[in-house]
Amino acid sequence: MAIKTIMVVGAGLMGAGISQVSAQAGYRVIMNDVKDELVDKGFNAIAKSLEGQVKKEKVTAADKDACLARITKSVSLDDAQRADFIIEAAFENFAVKKAIFEKLDSICPPELIFVSNTSSIPISSLATTVKRQDKFIGMHFFSPVPIMKLVEIIPGLKTSPETIKVTEELAASLKKETVRVKDVPGFLVNRINAAFRAEVFNCLLEGVATLEDIDKAVKLGLNHPMGPFELNDAVGIDIGLNVFRTLYEGYKDQKFRPPLVMEKMVQSGDLGKKTGKGWYDYTSGEKKPRKDLNL
Ligand SMILES: NC(=O)c1ccc[n+]([C@@H]2O[C@H](COP(=O)([O-])OP(=O)(O)OC[C@H]3O[C@@H](n4cnc5c(N)ncnc54)[C@H](O)[C@@H]3O)[C@@H](O)[C@H]2O)c1
Repeated sequence: MAIKTIMVVGAGLMGAGISQVSAQAGYRVIMNDVKDELVDKGFNAIAKSLEGQVKKEKVTAADKDACLARITKSVSLDDAQRADFIIEAAFENFAVKKAIFEKLDSICPPELIFVSNTSSIPISSLATTVKRQDKFIGMHFFSPVPIMKLVEIIPGLKTSPETIKVTEELAASLKKETVRVKDVPGFLVNRINAAFRAEVFNCLLEGVATLEDIDKAVKLGLNHPMGPFELNDAVGIDIGLNVFRTLYEGYKDQKFRPPLVMEKMVQSGDLGKKTGKGWYDYTSGEKKPRKDLNL
């Protein structure tokens, strides 16, 4: 079946990004969330991102308008009846995702492929929420979706070769590179990155260098576009902590033990850019070092 219309469930950070790259690739997109204002927020984020691309002369104003016109707003999962492919990017919560997939399974034709963009819930356990376990697969996009080239393709225990093939082709049509990864905790990238970040925290707590100098060293010495603390602030310290928790629970390996200093930051309510303060202070509108933390 030719895929023409993709439904994206969840219009938050990831759902908006996935909707944007899908629409830019020429697909019609049904962008779904639970409330009009949340869909509008996702839609406005896409419009703003495209506007930025127009300013940089990466797309024309006409392309931007055509792209936005391919996106239909939705607050009802029943709209999935008009979709050829479903990508779920709702809250990272098994019960939330289960309710979504159960509903979709009951209304969508049996040949439709269901994708989850989960970061930490095993694909094989999410697949148990539907009858079509052979048509259930993980696509793990990275943030910001329009910029990050990689998508991890995660087949569950019962995903069929045909589902893997169609999903990899779809990712390629979104101009993404793919890697096929087993359904293991943290998948591939987050697992490797957590081991690296664990060492970053060891260095911080041993006083090997200041937080700012660790960021500087990783950027200039390893050629990372952002330092680990800046990145953690951008993604959310709570999200980063959850990655450690998932890996520690999954592997029982000490190297993934959630750093206590991250736990303390989350307990204090400083979660990064989204709360104004994290490893750095953003309250002035600029990134400033913090002097008030007893690390
Ligand atoms: N943030 C990241 O960097 C990142 C990277 C890869 C994967 N993910 C995964 O992507 C998913 C979404 O993450 P996010 O960062 O976009 O979260 P987010 O909180 O920005 O967005 C989630 C959206 O889902 C919506 N939602 C909740 N329940 C819903 C329902 N029943 N039906 C429709 N929409 C519903 C929420 O209203 C919200 O707008 C999660 O599974 C997360 O683990 C996140």
